[in-house]
Amino acid sequence: MSEYDPFAEEVIADPLPFYARLRAESPVHPLPRYDAWALSRFQDVWDCSSDPRFSAAQGTTPAQVLTKDQPVTPMLNVMDPPEHTRLRAAIRQCFLPRYLRGLEPEARKLFEGLVDEVIDRGECDVVQDLGQRLSVTVACMAIGLPVEDGAMLNEIVKRFFHHDPEQGGMTADGIAALGELTDYCVDHVRRLRKSPGEGPQALNALVAFEDENGRGFGDEEAASHTTMLIIGGSETFPKTLANGVVRLWEHPDQRARLAADATGTIDAYNEILRYDMPTQFLCRTLTEDVEMHGQQMKAGHGVMFLYASANRDEREFDEPDRFDITRGAGRMLSFGAGTHACLGTHVARVEGRITLETILARMPEYEVDLDGAERLHTEFVQGFSSLPIRWS
Ligand code: HEM
Repeated sequence: MSEYDPFAEEVIADPLPFYARLRAESPVHPLPRYDAWALSRFQDVWDCSSDPRFSAAQGTTPAQVLTKDQPVTPMLNVMDPPEHTRLRAAIRQCFLPRYLRGLEPEARKLFEGLVDEVIDRGECDVVQDLGQRLSVTVACMAIGLPVEDGAMLNEIVKRFFHHDPEQGGMTADGIAALGELTDYCVDHVRRLRKSPGEGPQALNALVAFEDENGRGFGDEEAASHTTMLIIGGSETFPKTLANGVVRLWEHPDQRARLAADATGTIDAYNEILRYDMPTQFLCRTLTEDVEMHGQQMKAGHGVMFLYASANRDEREFDEPDRFDITRGAGRMLSFGAGTHACLGTHVARVEGRITLETILARMPEYEVDLDGAERLHTEFVQGFSSLPIRWS
């Protein structure tokens, strides 16, 4: 096996053996080419996620921290405390289960409608027809954007995520889509300034936000934060759903058990998230020198949190390579941890429960067409961009 480099073809094709070796032999692994380090063990990633010396302000994606060719725009996930703490507190309450009480019945109705559209066809694409359409619209509900805009935003988000394997990175149309999304959000921010919205929704909180000096966001700045919520809220869920559909199909005994008794659906969804984490890693930049496992990391160096490796760490999970929907793991890193832990955890779990329950109730014997599937193989995100299934 060659040396670990997140951009190496061999790593992108099958990262897990590399992660196992890193955890065993080099838990704080130097990547001098990128002035960076890779953390692969669960406890290390967990602890460093709350450590203020690991800053998100230089960005968190590989393009921001490793290759440094993506600019950092104002978004919650790339802020550090104390500014981050204040803004997160303002938005956080909008994502609490008690404020999202109406979300589940609405999302369930929406998903039933999506399944109604395909059920007589006997086939559909789990990512494009189901997961993506649900998650963009549910993100609108959670953020406070008009639900009727869900279909239109779905088209924009699809173009934004479209990956050209020949080219790598974002396509020109993807960049144009981000511009359209930003314009759309600016428009909503301005409308909301004229007639402030009711209720604790994230968009209201962004428009009303003031820092400790009483300074609020400009329209573009508030819009940039909103695009992060739309993209963050719709990117990962469809991939986790597709992974779940495949893993349950590969384990028919577990699928049958879940179809017969839905009480274990949240545990099943958590195991799906642990087993196949689509976001391979996110990054931080050190504000001070830090020593770990005998390695001297320097201020200014990048640090990769290898979430997908941490979720398979044998120090944390018993037989981590076994898929077991009854595992009931105490903690995992699929939603990050600490300072930037995912705000949409409850939204994602509601979506996971609704989709798995509905699919197993309405097409319990589905077959996956793996030959017809399309996979996204990038250093950053892995998973299905298209997953056909059939049922009779
Ligand atoms: C299966 C679905 C999802 C997964 C796996 C996921 C995963 C994550 C992860 C790993 C982080 C940590 C980022 C970091 O450490 O830099 C994060 C942050 C975040 N997520 Fe999610 N997420 C999901 C769904 C959502 C949804 C539905 C929303 C909102 C509608 C959302 C909103 C956010 C926000 C706002 C942050 C940044 C929090 C902060 O910086 O303080 N996520 N998410």
